[in-house]
Amino acid sequence: MCGIVGYLGNKEKKEIILNGLKELEYRGYDSAGMAILCNDELKFYKKAGKLQNLSDFMNDLSFKELGVAIGHTRWATHGKPDDINSHPHYGEFSCVIHNGIIENYKELKEELKNVNFNSQTDTEVIVHLFEEYTKKFDVYTAFSEVVKKLQGAYAILLITKKAKNTIFFAKNNAPLIIAKGDNDKEFYLASCDAPLVGISKEVAYLNDGDYGYISEDKITLLNGKIEFKQLSSDRQSAQKDGFSTFMEKEIYEQAQIVKNVILGRIKNDKICFDELSSLENNFSKIIICACGTSYHAALASAYLFEREAKIEVRIEIASEFRYKDAYLDKNALFICISQSGETADTLEALKIAKENNLKTLALCNVDNSSIARLADYCVLIRAGIEKSVASTKAFCAQMVNLWLLSLYFNKNEKRALKDEIFVLKNLDLSVNKTQHEKIKRLSKRYLHGHGFFFISRDIFYPLALEASLKLKEISYLHAEGYAAGEMKHGPIALADSELFCVAFMPKNMLYEKTKSNVLELSARDANILVISPIEFDMADDFIKTKDCNHYMIEFFEMMVIMQLFALEIANKVGANVDMPRNLAKSVTVE
Ligand code: M6R
Repeated sequence: MCGIVGYLGNKEKKEIILNGLKELEYRGYDSAGMAILCNDELKFYKKAGKLQNLSDFMNDLSFKELGVAIGHTRWATHGKPDDINSHPHYGEFSCVIHNGIIENYKELKEELKNVNFNSQTDTEVIVHLFEEYTKKFDVYTAFSEVVKKLQGAYAILLITKKAKNTIFFAKNNAPLIIAKGDNDKEFYLASCDAPLVGISKEVAYLNDGDYGYISEDKITLLNGKIEFKQLSSDRQSAQKDGFSTFMEKEIYEQAQIVKNVILGRIKNDKICFDELSSLENNFSKIIICACGTSYHAALASAYLFEREAKIEVRIEIASEFRYKDAYLDKNALFICISQSGETADTLEALKIAKENNLKTLALCNVDNSSIARLADYCVLIRAGIEKSVASTKAFCAQMVNLWLLSLYFNKNEKRALKDEIFVLKNLDLSVNKTQHEKIKRLSKRYLHGHGFFFISRDIFYPLALEASLKLKEISYLHAEGYAAGEMKHGPIALADSELFCVAFMPKNMLYEKTKSNVLELSARDANILVISPIEFDMADDFIKTKDCNHYMIEFFEMMVIMQLFALEIANKVGANVDMPRNLAKSVTVE
């Protein structure tokens, strides 16, 4: 989500850090900052907003002597996106930058009762803890002791006046790379390949749990081991981490995103949303408003809220809601969902809810966006910047957050919350490469015909709607999503040998009922692709999913499959996957 760059050497440091951050700016642009340690002087600079603000602020400065520099672009998670909360965070003689979330920062702050904290971030605790430990240990042991205390996700760079020409680093569940420079005494660090392309040929991708320090001519691992490999020389593909499109990269990122979303949300078998602590759970119903993919997440969440939390839910398309003069129950909680936080229709719907004095909650991916700012409460979904116009990882993050919220709002004590938490904690969305290869092969059979029906039941019905949206927006083929039981009320009239029907048939949700509907289509010669853990003889094609005992595990696995299916068909028809015709990432017009 945020971006990190580090440099040790005697080249001009400001430009190296700014150029590196430029490559990462698309990941986070709430603020940027850097710290530089040369000639025993430690200086730091930070500015809210785009990188250009930092660049302008540092206009006349130059740092050419041997030394170290660390830089950061921020995607706010804890605390407002202002100058103070920008990285680096500082103590008396050290500075730190950090990507990720320190889950136990509140507990660690308890250890630092005498310290004045400047910011609202989780990160600041790292630098104060480090300085505190240097009172007892040498700097290397102090850093080790800090890392051992941290829980959560982090890529950390720390510099200190107590260790000249040294950068301390640590990685856990957030990427960090060390790169060799032009000579033995020059090193770079970055949170992805992109800033390193063209300036380094050899890089080492750190593993979770690795930490250590780089000093003038060597890298010392205090934990883990390091292995260098060749770096690709293509900048575009570096930004895409070697994937051919951002959409593919973002589909593969989802496994990590689930982990990011649940970080800090589950404590002692309870769901925690600290940002909602003042929201009273006494609303009469929930009204959810959204557009496009976010609307599908809303539709899916209704099944969760009603089933898990026993709360009545009404879902509205924002562009319809804003003009319908809707009847609004004053005791309802109004939720709007928007990846960008700028969608004009959703923003207007939110304004209407506010004018009617409803309590409002936004689920957004972009902090400081119009919707995030306007709503009374905001939950950031933590998907990181989504570059592909076709939303994938944001949908995934929305769904995990909504599932968590449905458990958070649940008033029914008897429910088996522990079981749900177990499933959430163990949710694994890693793409099965063999399955992806199979989908690639299958995709070439789906390029003709007059259209696609995606069908299923219950929460898998909104998934079918989302599957049809994904396919049509990037491949320009005609696709519809239907509740499987609705086929017989009209759509089945289109069934013939030129219709493709993709059926989600989870084992744990109305399998037999969906099966009957699929058989009705098969009897009318439609081409059937079944996605299910249970073999199905009547299918023309079959994608087998894992056998498991919870429908939400099946939901997320089928979500990845339908995203890959759309992607591979779009690749086959030669469409521009990341920038489909007629579409925009942020729809700020009505
Ligand atoms: O930023 P939002 O979530 O408010 O955007 C809503 C829709 O415009 C968006 O989901 C759109 O449908 C995507 N292109 C779907 O892939």
